[in-house]
Amino acid sequence: MEFTKPRIEACFSPREFHQYEEGFELIVVIDVLRATSAICTAIEHGVKGIIPVDSVEEARDYLKKGYIAAAEREGKIVEGFPIGNSPFTYMNPEFKGETIVLTTTNGTKAIKIAQHKETVVIGALNNLDSLTEWLIDQNRNVLILASGWKDKFNLEDTICAGAIIDGVLKSGKFISDEDSSVAAKFIYKSAKENIFAYLKASSHRRRLRRLNLNADVKYCLTPNNLTAIPILKDGILVALKHVEKAVES
Ligand code: MLT
Repeated sequence: MEFTKPRIEACFSPREFHQYEEGFELIVVIDVLRATSAICTAIEHGVKGIIPVDSVEEARDYLKKGYIAAAEREGKIVEGFPIGNSPFTYMNPEFKGETIVLTTTNGTKAIKIAQHKETVVIGALNNLDSLTEWLIDQNRNVLILASGWKDKFNLEDTICAGAIIDGVLKSGKFISDEDSSVAAKFIYKSAKENIFAYLKASSHRRRLRRLNLNADVKYCLTPNNLTAIPILKDGILVALKHVEKAVES
């Protein structure tokens, strides 16, 4: 089918990525609870770069080489690592200017799955408006890849995907064609007045509540408390504004 305007679509799981990716070179990876919220927070607070890696073993190798390395599995900090996935960790001024290696259950896996694409940026509810504005200016097909939970659909990433799609479609410059995108938009619209309450029954919110991480959840579900947009450059997530500045000069 021929489309006259660029498309913005949602893919609900890394496992489905290959079914959606054709024709999309700009990918937005989201993992609201909590990987991409943590990455946006790190970049906003001056972390120079985040190196996403697939496995705990790989992260451990970096740790042995003297890197700062963070590892999360099942919502918990992996034994032997100084830090995990809490966004508050990345506000630490000691991390300013540093490059941090990160592996998480789902978020870093989704980033790695998309890394062969021309442009991979990181989205969260935290950077919703700045990301949406930037996407509207790109004038090319956008695929939002939700990290989900172990390849399954999750509600929080779907809400975030719907929020981005809703904002971009309002510009009138894009269209959506997939049912996944329509569903994400509907779910966002029914959740947007109180996302925290809407997600009460969601599996990862319950998991994080059991781990006493409600403060993390509240932070991650707060739209627009950040403006940074991380972008993947040579395998490292860095601030988009620095990349754009380098291209201009
Ligand atoms: C992930 O990448 O799976 C999540 O960020 C898990 C978490 O909340 O720690």
